[in-house]
Amino acid sequence: MRLALEDQAIHEIRSDCLVIGFTEGGAMTPSARRIDAVSGGAIGRLLESRDIQTAIGKTQFLHGVPGLAAPRVLAVGFGKQDKLDLPRFDRACLAAGKALRDHPLTSCHVCLHELEFGETGPAQRLRQAALAIHRANYLYTVTKPLKEDSPVPVATATFQGGASLQTALDQATGFALGYEKAKILGDLPPNICNPAYLAQEAAAIAEQFTRVELEVLEEEDMAGLGMDALLGVSRGSANRARLIVLTYAGGAKDQRPVVLVGKGITFDSGGLSLKTGENMMQMKYDMCGAAGVIGAFVACARMQLALNVVCVVAAVENMPDGDAYRPGDVLTSMSGKTIEVLNTDAEGRLILCDALTYSERFQPEVIIDVATLTGACVVALGHHASGLMSNDDRLAAELLAAGDSVVDRAWRLPLWEEYQTQLDSPFADMKNVGGMPAGVLTAGCFLSRFAEEQRWAHLDIAGSAWKWGGDDGATGRPVGLLTQFLINRAA
Ligand code: BES
Ligand code: MN
Ligand code: ZN
Repeated sequence: MRLALEDQAIHEIRSDCLVIGFTEGGAMTPSARRIDAVSGGAIGRLLESRDIQTAIGKTQFLHGVPGLAAPRVLAVGFGKQDKLDLPRFDRACLAAGKALRDHPLTSCHVCLHELEFGETGPAQRLRQAALAIHRANYLYTVTKPLKEDSPVPVATATFQGGASLQTALDQATGFALGYEKAKILGDLPPNICNPAYLAQEAAAIAEQFTRVELEVLEEEDMAGLGMDALLGVSRGSANRARLIVLTYAGGAKDQRPVVLVGKGITFDSGGLSLKTGENMMQMKYDMCGAAGVIGAFVACARMQLALNVVCVVAAVENMPDGDAYRPGDVLTSMSGKTIEVLNTDAEGRLILCDALTYSERFQPEVIIDVATLTGACVVALGHHASGLMSNDDRLAAELLAAGDSVVDRAWRLPLWEEYQTQLDSPFADMKNVGGMPAGVLTAGCFLSRFAEEQRWAHLDIAGSAWKWGGDDGATGRPVGLLTQFLINRAA
């Protein structure tokens, strides 16, 4: 989808659809007032008769409003004016985007950012609206091409405004491409999107952008580095693992990079601790951490942000076969720390611990790992928040604020040392599972042991990265949070 600005008078705009927001108890926006004026008061009457409903997320197409060059208006409800905030704004914009997707029109002109609320300015609202419209018009087509009766995604979305909003629009485009990349990678089936595929994808990204370099480590390279935890997970799979390292050099040569580490389990069968059929169905999404960091990396490269970023993706498949690692095995990680594997389904932490140790060589300013790590995180936070754990309060606060400002929210969970004892093992430095209590935290505790010297944060996105059923799928999260964090860091 192409995003652009357009500052012609609203009634002269030739687009398939004008998209106008309404609140209950708020004044009409400038565009709504203009349409009302040129149509001889039609908007006021439609509001009065409740043909335009203002409840949050309600959408109605209005046809043939007099005085307009555009054939229709999409009226979008944003609920009560005094309750309007960024999350509600985002939700209503997504609803508008879905209505546009499900209608066979191909262009729209959006004025939703004219709605004022809270501390927000037009630039932030424009960015959020543009991103929401773009996200809602995502349609997976790789293995199911469009048919005649498919929804028709909008091809061009213009936004009311001029040069003062250009930066916001450029940022929206960057975010949107990042989200889209993460969603496609997440939605691809695991027989296509395997570790080699992710490496190819990284090569295409390195091709596409200047200042981006790629290095891919094969299993022999990883063996040479002593990454036996990561390689232990990979042993049961016929698809060889890759460690994918993308670097973006947008900052000064001596500036320490932000290092993003992604869990790229392209399929998680559980290994010998095999999942049930029910729990295995969704496990193509177990590479959404990788997809998220790649998406944010693409957004950053596209916006040419002035900082250095390294993206490390541990791309591995977790399968059971005669050579698979077993419950009871003791593995030696690259750090030298030993791990007693008691459950081969707690594999994410095993590949991430070696990726974290490897990342030390970049002398990171901060390290952030992103992973669909635990079912316990879904139980704790559901689908609305990513779980954030960190050994650094400032870094944690920065990440929370970045997420809030783009409605890609995270919630911090405690990593108190009391939880660490759940990982004690009589046979190794630690176990890879900590039992039932606080499973999301013991996973975080495990990782923290491989980032002791670092300013480090961990995002558990098991609940936020995808939704199951219907036309849901990969959400593209936490591309928004990470990208905003990088923008703030570059400023
Ligand atoms: N990939 C899963 C976590 C997961 C579960 C993500 C559900 C999305 C939805 C992870 O590898 C896993 O299997 N974790 C286990 C850990 C347990 C064995 C300690 C879990 O959460 O059950
Ligand atoms: Mn698992
Ligand atoms: Zn997993």
